Amino acid sequence: MSENWTKSGWRTKPRVQMPDYPDRQALAAVEAQLAKYPPLVFAGEARALKARLGEAARGRAFLLQGGDCAESFAEFNADIIRDTFKVLLQMAIVLTYGAKVPVIKVGRMAGQFAKPRSAPTEVAGGRELPSYRGDIINGFDFTPEARVPDPARMLQAYTQAAASLNLLRAFSKGGFADIHRVHNWTLGFAGGANAERYRELSDRISDALDFMTAAGVNGDTSAAMSEVDFYTSHEALLLEYEEALCRIDSTTGLPVAGSGHMLWIGDRTRQPDGAHVEFCRGVQNPIGLKCGPTLAAEDLKLLMARLNPGNEAGRLTLIARFGAGKVGEHLPRLVRAVREEGANVVWVCDPMHGNTIKSASGYKTRPFERVLQEVRDFFAVHKAEGTIPGGVHFEMTGKDVTECTGGLRAVSDEDLSDRYHTACDPRLNASQSLELAFLVAEELSERRADMKRHAV
Ligand code: PEP
Ligand code: CO
Repeated sequence: MSENWTKSGWRTKPRVQMPDYPDRQALAAVEAQLAKYPPLVFAGEARALKARLGEAARGRAFLLQGGDCAESFAEFNADIIRDTFKVLLQMAIVLTYGAKVPVIKVGRMAGQFAKPRSAPTEVAGGRELPSYRGDIINGFDFTPEARVPDPARMLQAYTQAAASLNLLRAFSKGGFADIHRVHNWTLGFAGGANAERYRELSDRISDALDFMTAAGVNGDTSAAMSEVDFYTSHEALLLEYEEALCRIDSTTGLPVAGSGHMLWIGDRTRQPDGAHVEFCRGVQNPIGLKCGPTLAAEDLKLLMARLNPGNEAGRLTLIARFGAGKVGEHLPRLVRAVREEGANVVWVCDPMHGNTIKSASGYKTRPFERVLQEVRDFFAVHKAEGTIPGGVHFEMTGKDVTECTGGLRAVSDEDLSDRYHTACDPRLNASQSLELAFLVAEELSERRADMKRHAV
């Protein structure tokens, strides 16, 4: 076990971005109840994910992490889960083809309920109220009542996460994820300037699948073609919830977070001496760390030592989120800090959180071009530094929303109001997500070609 660690040790550390519950008694009752509930994930699954991320650190696998910015109680039904899962699988096939390595599929799902906010209050119509902090904490409605942190929301989040996971597990193993079926959905994807290139790539994947079928490897004969391993992740922000679901893994005797397979620490809560780092250092799940422009190399070194003292491969994923045009300024210095420590990490690109702007129409949006540019910058830096781009992290949905501008079926500033449904940050819609997967696949196959050339 990590030195001097207990699951409630975070309570003595400085905390940010967490609610102060006015009703302490109600909070204690909810915590006691959650502590008795079964964990949502099995420790062995978290260990399996960590082993696979260890492969990504070496370039022998690639991480695809994606889903909602914030899951919500109102937007919860089977179709939404199915559609996001479906697009993630479509993206994974395209990426697998480009990278020629297994793609590790991790949803921002079944637990992504708590949100850090840039300001503690919001002003609208001349009124100032506490900020919305995600459905697990308070309500989205702009009323004083809704904005009071309510611990009972943790129970609803747990129930929703359990139901989501149940469906995701069924989809993963029950036939829905058959590779031919998933790829057939992608074949209809076209439009825009790059359509021809994407169609070609899709056709090449179809050919490869036909060949496999002819050779006797298909959904009937091979689980690899008909089933997927799918993992869940969320930001470990609400530590009362995380502590209540923390368990001891009976196999290893070590503490494990039972709320999801992978947890990450946000860019606003990564203080080396703070509560969030303290909690995460003691659970054996794979841990993500958001790395924004303000992360100093010295702090990164400290965080790596604290979160992964044994330098275990797959334990720590660094999620770079600087913004298009800023990657060249920040990623190289952090890549070098990692190299200086000889640290084992998976480098992942989150091209969403550094690229949020306010549109002329007043909506928070992300221009697709900027998202794409950050991905390109990320690959370019890793190429120059001789390090490994290990994955991508997106905010996306399977629905046809209009939240990010641009893409093949171009969403304009004026379109944003049509279907703007996010409870927090703007997400890529199904078509934009798939387009991005094609572009990342191209980056990955170029990288593969480069490496082959160098190996000759
Ligand atoms: C998020 O991933 O939704 C988020 C808030 O990210 P960051 O901590 O990188 O700002
Ligand atoms: Co977000």
